[in-house]
Amino acid sequence: MMKIEFSKMYVDDDIRSSVIDVLNSGIYIKGERLRSFEREFAEFCGTRYSFGVSSGTSAILLALMALGIKKGDEVIVPAHTFVATASPAIFLGGTPVFADIEEDTYTIDPEDMARKITERTKAIIPVHLYGHPCDMDPINDIAQEKGIAVIEDACQAHGAVYRGKKAGSIGDIGCFSFFPSKNMTVLGEGGMVSTDNEELAEKISMLRDHGRRDKYVHEVLGLNLRMDEIHAAIGRESLKHISDWNRRRREIASLYHRLLQGLDLVAPVEKSWAEHVYHLYVIRIKEREKLAAYLNKKGVSTGVHYPVPLHRQPCMLADVHLPVTERCAKEILSLPMHPQLLDEEVEYVCDEIREAL
Ligand SMILES: Cc1ncc(COP(=O)(O)O)c(C=O)c1O
Repeated sequence: MMKIEFSKMYVDDDIRSSVIDVLNSGIYIKGERLRSFEREFAEFCGTRYSFGVSSGTSAILLALMALGIKKGDEVIVPAHTFVATASPAIFLGGTPVFADIEEDTYTIDPEDMARKITERTKAIIPVHLYGHPCDMDPINDIAQEKGIAVIEDACQAHGAVYRGKKAGSIGDIGCFSFFPSKNMTVLGEGGMVSTDNEELAEKISMLRDHGRRDKYVHEVLGLNLRMDEIHAAIGRESLKHISDWNRRRREIASLYHRLLQGLDLVAPVEKSWAEHVYHLYVIRIKEREKLAAYLNKKGVSTGVHYPVPLHRQPCMLADVHLPVTERCAKEILSLPMHPQLLDEEVEYVCDEIREAL
C-alpha cells in the first residue's frame, strides 16, 4: 500500500543556508532581505508596491485598516472560504455580508455580490479559492460604479492569472499568505500585501509598523504586523521556484482530470480566461465521507476545504441562505496536491477512487 501525503513542504540546502546567513548577519528585522523580497514579489505580482507582513490574516487586516473600515461598515465576502477572509473586518467593528459562489469555480458569484451591496458596503473581498481566479471584471465594474474598494484574497493563488493579470494585482489591494502548505511559503507564518495605489501603500507600510515613518513618531495607530528577516530570506528562495511549482501543480491536475474522467464525480474546471494554480485539487462527490474514509484506509490523505461555511460558523453566524455554498460544502473533497507528488502516486489515488466508486 502506498502512503500519499496531502501536501508536502520543500526544504533544500539553499533555504537552509539562507536561514544561517540571517542568523550570522545579526540583522533580524527591517533589513535588506525583507526589502529585496518585497521588490521581487512586487515584480512577480505585477504591482508597484508589496509589503511583507506576519501572515495572510495580517495582510487582510492591514488592507481593511488602510481603507479605513470601521464600525458599521459592511464588507462583502464569500462564505465558502477560510475564516480569515472575514474575521479581520469584525475586529475593526465591520460586518461581513456573505455572498454565494459560482458552482463551477467555487469563487464569489458577482451577481449575488451585487445584490448584497447596500449604502454601508465599503469593500468586497473576492477570494481566488483553490488557486482559481474570480471573475474580476464584473466585480471591479460594479465596485467602481458604486465606489467600493476591492481587496483580493489571493492567499491560495500566488501566480494565478486572470485575463493576463496576476491574482493580487487586479483589485485595489491584493493579500497573500505564505503559510507552510501554500503554493509559495516562508515555512512559517508570513504574508504580503500588494497594491498599485501610492496612498494605500504608504498607509499599509506605516500601519504594519506601529503607525510610524520615523522611529519615534507614531502618526497613526498601528500594530506590529511585520515580516522578519528569516522569513523574508526563505520567501526569496521560494520565489525562485514558484513558477516551476505551479507548472508541476498544473501537470498533476491534468493527470487527475484524465484519470478521473468518466467517474461519477465533478472535477475542477479552469475557465478560458483563467490560469489555475491548483493550490487544491477539489472534486465533488455525493458520498464524500465514505470516499474519504476508504481513501484513508488505503493510505491516501484527503481534506475538506471547507465543511462549515462562514455564515454557519459559531463566531460569525448569519441568517442567510446560500444554496450553492451549502450544497458544495457537503460534497467537496480535496485530493493530495503538491509539486513533489509523483505521477505514480496520482495514478494510485485515481485507481483507488475508481475502485471505491
Ligand atoms: C483564503 C485564505 N484567506 C486567508 C488566509 C489566512 O492566511 P494565514 O493563515 O497566513 O493567516 C488563508 C490561509 O490560511 C486562506 O486560505
